[in-house]
Amino acid sequence: MLRRLLLASAFAIFAMPAAPVLAADDNTVEVLHWWTSGGEAAALNVLKKDLEAKGVTWQDMPVAGGGGEQAMTVLRARVTAGNAPTAVQMLGYDIQDWAKLGVVADLSEVANKEGWDKVVPEPLQKFAKYDGKWIAAPVNIHSPNWIWANKAILDKLGIKQPTNWDELIAALDKIKAAGYVALAVGGQPWQETEIFDNVVLSTGGPEFYTKALIELDPAALGSDTMKTVFDRLIKLKSYMDPNAAGREWNLATAMVITEKAGMQIMGDWAKGEFINAKKAEGKDFVCFRFPGTQGSVIFNADQFVMFKVSEARHAAQLQMASAIMAPAFQTSFNVVKGSVPARTDVADTAFDDCGKESMKEIVAAVPKGAMVGSFTHGHAAPAAVKQAGYDVVAAVFTGQYDSAQAVKELVKAVAAAKEEADRKPLSRTAGEGG
Ligand code: BGC
Repeated sequence: MLRRLLLASAFAIFAMPAAPVLAADDNTVEVLHWWTSGGEAAALNVLKKDLEAKGVTWQDMPVAGGGGEQAMTVLRARVTAGNAPTAVQMLGYDIQDWAKLGVVADLSEVANKEGWDKVVPEPLQKFAKYDGKWIAAPVNIHSPNWIWANKAILDKLGIKQPTNWDELIAALDKIKAAGYVALAVGGQPWQETEIFDNVVLSTGGPEFYTKALIELDPAALGSDTMKTVFDRLIKLKSYMDPNAAGREWNLATAMVITEKAGMQIMGDWAKGEFINAKKAEGKDFVCFRFPGTQGSVIFNADQFVMFKVSEARHAAQLQMASAIMAPAFQTSFNVVKGSVPARTDVADTAFDDCGKESMKEIVAAVPKGAMVGSFTHGHAAPAAVKQAGYDVVAAVFTGQYDSAQAVKELVKAVAAAKEEADRKPLSRTAGEGG
């Protein structure tokens, strides 16, 4: 009861007026998203065109910033002002936290009619449904445990695809010795934390990942395995160039595309950049699972959440949800975006080898508990915990913490943030501190 009261007071600032103050016709959807890089914009265009062909007008609300932190800050301001967008790109726990506020629309009418229950993988449904109702339409499954490598560099140096940590280090050493930037990194907390997620999975396996980053078990967070993870991050840091600070993820991808850097550890939205630059998988670039994570999938699914609007506008929202879930659209969108469909009944024929591999791995990983939510992208823990992780990882990358201190700080920071997330859902989605 007490928790309920606390939640109610925390949510009070989000109270919404009956209708948003948008002066557009009922067939318009205003879509808030962070797909602003070249590859992302190309994929967004597929969605926009699809909707326009169905008579739905697109009102664009882009908020730049990979990973979506800035977009979530803008969303919060808009909802607080009583002017929620009609549809919003959203990830993981944020979806559930917005649903708890009672401000999101129910998509069950279309979801039940179209049988989403039967085709959307269970780990995604956990975020897409609230209180038994469908409240989000998943547009893709992205996976962050990939490495993207420049094929010409690998071939020139005789580097074979690394399959474990030692082979990865040997490959990076060779690339560095040949005068390239070995590892293209964007020095932003979310990008660094994405590397952390990969190293956690590679070092400890899916069970350890689940214990530490999903169950937030203090013993796992404070373990020797976690210390090894931070030691490995410090090692990887030695392969970055000195200009990484603040760099956007797509500029790091561009370094691999233009043969300045050998590899990038990044989610498969990076593939969208290669495709947009007219580069082909297997010819210009290669992709492989982060060494030591083969057979496991870290997932990050973009979903569209519709905010409660007038009855007249709800029809366009349902139309958008239905369009997003159409099998043909899931193919045409995801081959451009670099991701794979959010439904398991779509053929893999249009996808390249990395896409095909991803689709197979997802089906195999789910029953084994080897499809784990991305910590960096809010599919493992709520926003406050995720931000606490960013802070610790960023302090390791700046050299402020060594591995022993990082472990201690991680245990402390996660415990405090977990308590905060329970008390104050959606805190830190607006860059707000504890
Ligand atoms: C999203 C991707 C996006 C990436 C970089 C992730 O959080 O899920 O769709 O491409 O951020 O902006």
